[in-house]
Amino acid sequence: MADAITILGLESSCDDTAAAVVRRDGQGAHILSSVVYGQTELHSAFGGVVPEIAARAHAEKIDLCVAEALERAGVALTDLDAVAVTAGPGLIGGVLAGVMCAKGIAAATGLPLVGVNHLAGHALTPRLTDGIGFPYLILLVSGGHCQYLIAKGPEEFSRLGGTIDDAPGEAFDKAARLLGLPQPGGPSVEAEAKAGDPRHFRFPRPLLDRDDCNLSFSGLKTALLRARDQIVAEKGGLTRADRADLCAGFQQAIVDVLAEKTRRALRIYLAEGPADPVLAVAGGVAANGAIRAKLETVCEEMGVRFTAPPLKLCTDNAAMIAYAGIERFARGERDDLTLMARPRWPLDKASPALLGGGKKGAKA
Ligand code: KG4
Ligand code: ZN
Repeated sequence: MADAITILGLESSCDDTAAAVVRRDGQGAHILSSVVYGQTELHSAFGGVVPEIAARAHAEKIDLCVAEALERAGVALTDLDAVAVTAGPGLIGGVLAGVMCAKGIAAATGLPLVGVNHLAGHALTPRLTDGIGFPYLILLVSGGHCQYLIAKGPEEFSRLGGTIDDAPGEAFDKAARLLGLPQPGGPSVEAEAKAGDPRHFRFPRPLLDRDDCNLSFSGLKTALLRARDQIVAEKGGLTRADRADLCAGFQQAIVDVLAEKTRRALRIYLAEGPADPVLAVAGGVAANGAIRAKLETVCEEMGVRFTAPPLKLCTDNAAMIAYAGIERFARGERDDLTLMARPRWPLDKASPALLGGGKKGAKA
């Protein structure tokens, strides 16, 4: 790792247009710049990400985003070793916008092109932020992803399980909608839950009877809808306390399911005898204090180190793509102008695709 590698990364697979410059040298990895243009307001009226609107916004903004990332990093295109880009999985129009921009830069400058799997970007983030060594267990939990992976190498992942329907962030967002709370739902449900009693309403803990690491969250949302409708039918409306109790019960069900499935995933991981066992979490849902605290307790019980990257690197960003590009580039991997944009691209090629597409793109 003696020679420094500097890479420009591009990300456009969902509803964030992002560009970043990352350098890795003998001292470790350094984020020289990380620019994210969100699109929340463009989609807010539709209750989810509209792929065509997202793709157009990416195409309009990505070159501005690249220019800003280079300027903030104080780096010229000629200082770069390569350009890395998310080539999937994700909403195909958006992925195409990034891939075409990266190809344009590569064709114009002669820089090598490195295609990156978006999920590998998330999964390798603990190496970017904390220099974590392989193998480690990672739980990706966001609005679009939910899976347990053992990261064994920059391109070697073994998937232990994942959601068969909604991702937890999606469940929080739908719960907030059902209770008239603002989006994104996770932070609003968490805030309401603080004043509630998690034992007042008992929600199902899906798939705990199955001895695997798969998860399901869509039934939980239906149970919440039923509980809400029952209170409304009985009392004519929800009180502040009802809403807090519903949020607390709903969040507790997610906490309990993630805790138990994490124990199972850790048992499988620990059986492989890692020298320095680590559980990392990434994704927007990792911001949830109750989930985080429970996962930390589970790790303590099982003698495993717990780590979570800072939130802005947990959610979609291009620094993780630039870093994953560095890992591939350092191994001599390059793509060329035939690089394809892929809507689906499972990290673990040996595991069958999971069910469920999700509003925020492919989860497989
Ligand atoms: O990783 P992210 O920014 O975007 C993708 O899904 O790709 O994650 C956003 C998701 C949203 O569904 C949001 O409701 C959820 O993360 N989230 C939370 C919290 N903060 C954000 N969920 C639970 N508790 C939170 N505090
Ligand atoms: Zn993501």
